[in-house]
Amino acid sequence: MESVIVAIDGPSGTGKSSTSKAVAAKLGLSYLDTGAQYRAITWWMISNGVDVHDADAVANAAAKPVIVSGTDPSRPTITVDGADAAGPIRTEEVTSKVSAVSAVPEVRRLITELQRTIAKGAELGIVVEGRDIGTTVLPDADLKIFLTASPEARAARRSGELKGVDVHATKEALIKRDAADSSRKTSPLAKADDAVEVDTTDLTLDQVIECVVTLVDEKR
Ligand code: C5P
Repeated sequence: MESVIVAIDGPSGTGKSSTSKAVAAKLGLSYLDTGAQYRAITWWMISNGVDVHDADAVANAAAKPVIVSGTDPSRPTITVDGADAAGPIRTEEVTSKVSAVSAVPEVRRLITELQRTIAKGAELGIVVEGRDIGTTVLPDADLKIFLTASPEARAARRSGELKGVDVHATKEALIKRDAADSSRKTSPLAKADDAVEVDTTDLTLDQVIECVVTLVDEKR
């Protein structure tokens, strides 16, 4: 079977990660969570005392951390300088600072290079999820999906994942992060012209997975 590259983009809380992992597992493809890489570099900046709002300082330090992503969809991993970063990258502090770090062009250049290397090395193909995969990282992807959902649905999903978190506060934080990601100068969150848009507001996760698997099958 021919190798296939699938790009899945969209704002937070649209089900990108759950969908991408499940589709990759079903089809025997690798999986890459690019948000985890931006979170990992943000965690390193915080841990090393770099002011994330000082773009020059972030750019100067950007090449220092060694970020390694494991691409098995049933067990995705991420390490920074050899240390397991899966837990620390999900803290509220990292979530609130990641948009500032990911807007720095040097950060995007380095992480994009890493993502392209990983995608090239995936023999059977890969599902790559993020914000700029279809537009910038892998513009020649075989299939591009852009997932959307209403802000209410996205906030409800996120606060379900993070138990005990207030839905209203989550919604405000999501809207703020999406606005920052969509308005930055370098490769903002955007739908590629040739991407298929899937509104997941009223769909179950299984329905979204089925829809994407069908679209991939049509491409092979
Ligand atoms: O997907 P996740 O919510 O973990 O992404 C965290 C952040 O990483 C996003 O809010 C965005 O700032 C950044 N990101 C990005 N480009 C990507 C993936 C994520 O700028 N391809």
